[in-house]
Amino acid sequence: MVRAPGGSPGSPIWGEGTESRKANNPSYAKCVGAEEAGPLLEGRAPPTEPALLGPDPSFSTGENLAICLRIPNVIDRISPGAHLSSGAKAAHRRELPITEQRISARVGSIAESATLAIDSKAKALKAAGENVIGFGAGEPDFPTPEHIVAAAAEATHHLTYHHYTPAGGLPELRAAIATKTQRDSGFAVQPEQVLVTNGGKHALYNAILTTVDDGDEVLLPAPYWVSYPEIVRLAGGTVVALPTTEETGFRVTLEQLEAATTDRTKMLIFVSPSNPTGAVYPPHEVEAIGRWAADRGLWVITDEIYEHLVYGDSRFSSMPVLVPELADRCIVVNGVAKTYAMTGWRVGWMIAPLDVTRAAMSLQSHATSNVSNVAQAAALVAVSGDLSAVEMMREAFDRRRQTMHKLLNEINGVTCVEPQGAFYAFPSFKELLGTEIGGRRIESSEELGQVILDEAKVAIVPGEGFGAPGYGRLSYALGDDDLVEGVGRIADLLA
Ligand SMILES: Cc1ncc(COP(=O)(O)O)c(C=O)c1O
Repeated sequence: MVRAPGGSPGSPIWGEGTESRKANNPSYAKCVGAEEAGPLLEGRAPPTEPALLGPDPSFSTGENLAICLRIPNVIDRISPGAHLSSGAKAAHRRELPITEQRISARVGSIAESATLAIDSKAKALKAAGENVIGFGAGEPDFPTPEHIVAAAAEATHHLTYHHYTPAGGLPELRAAIATKTQRDSGFAVQPEQVLVTNGGKHALYNAILTTVDDGDEVLLPAPYWVSYPEIVRLAGGTVVALPTTEETGFRVTLEQLEAATTDRTKMLIFVSPSNPTGAVYPPHEVEAIGRWAADRGLWVITDEIYEHLVYGDSRFSSMPVLVPELADRCIVVNGVAKTYAMTGWRVGWMIAPLDVTRAAMSLQSHATSNVSNVAQAAALVAVSGDLSAVEMMREAFDRRRQTMHKLLNEINGVTCVEPQGAFYAFPSFKELLGTEIGGRRIESSEELGQVILDEAKVAIVPGEGFGAPGYGRLSYALGDDDLVEGVGRIADLLA
């Protein structure tokens, strides 16, 4: 079992004492190409072959990935597996008979989704009769609006909805998404540019697999949503994480982007409003970043899934609308999940230049074929209807956002910038690291999350999964009373 010095198995290696830990961790050196790797995680000898760039073969790929992922201040140019030389790759695979390699290197390198993991822990505790309050799930607590549910129910009675649709989606849904996009963000697109996918996550997967090759570098502002780096790595790409902090409102700067760009850079993944920080880029920053990407000839995936959830003076703006010259290298990702409280229906889409959409459609045709026909019927009614249900939810989220922001900042050792969009607060718990809570010494936000779950029966998502150790994510898409009770329990535990 690998144990970070002084930590629990798999505990993060960032935070207090980072310098000594990174010097002691050979994989750190490999992640950043540092020379000075010393002795290491318990029981492992330092590498004798500095020329072998890439994951330490004495660690599992998951461990290597976890280590790389937990180094936020670092431009992580190492993608497990993808950066082994072909000779090293072959040697690695020769260690075991091929039939004993039960999990492929590609899939073995993926870390479990931190958000789904905490959510399932909380659900398991609830099922066991515990009174758990969950801030983990990234989904509205509201039911799907009744007219959408009714349309799906009606569709189930019609034979056409019992059968396949074209892989790219119902033509009328693709047309409605094009119309909705023009209505909501001002981006004019053809229905043929739209690919209907199994949720926004699948749209990202299709978009990234379709455009990213082995060794391509993908710029990823951190804190980032958990699935972005995993999908990039699955595609063989290299994640170049760009850490941001409260000082810039968790927004990446042009200087950072410029400094991280190399001749291997292919793409920027951009999301505003952001999961997990709630940051919203003002239009002039969206435009400046888009113009920079266009000038550099880079691709941008812009994730617009929280487009309608902005608060106060913040405004959503769509990058290809502000920078039309980017449109030929821009992929918009969106879906019905967050806007219409339809997380379980699994309908999303990507909008891309025609050649990219066609290629992604071909990929999808061999993977999932079409999205559930009945779910597409529901999505058609959702995107064709007005936005009154969204507005009702937005107002509730706004109220809860303000409550949560206030309550969190009242807790000693916790600071939280005011989220501007989506439905997440992203407080810093850094001041609490190194202290004792619930009888345990807490060295990381992962350990803090565990003690909060064990002692206060409250689920939060530790920052490590978002590339931001020392922080945690709390969704405020839950009932007002639960929200107050949950934050109160945390406050009592930390008092
Ligand atoms: C930023 C972001 N993009 C995409 C998604 C994917 O949404 P879904 O696959 O549920 O449509 C999520 C879900 O949490 C998200 O937060």
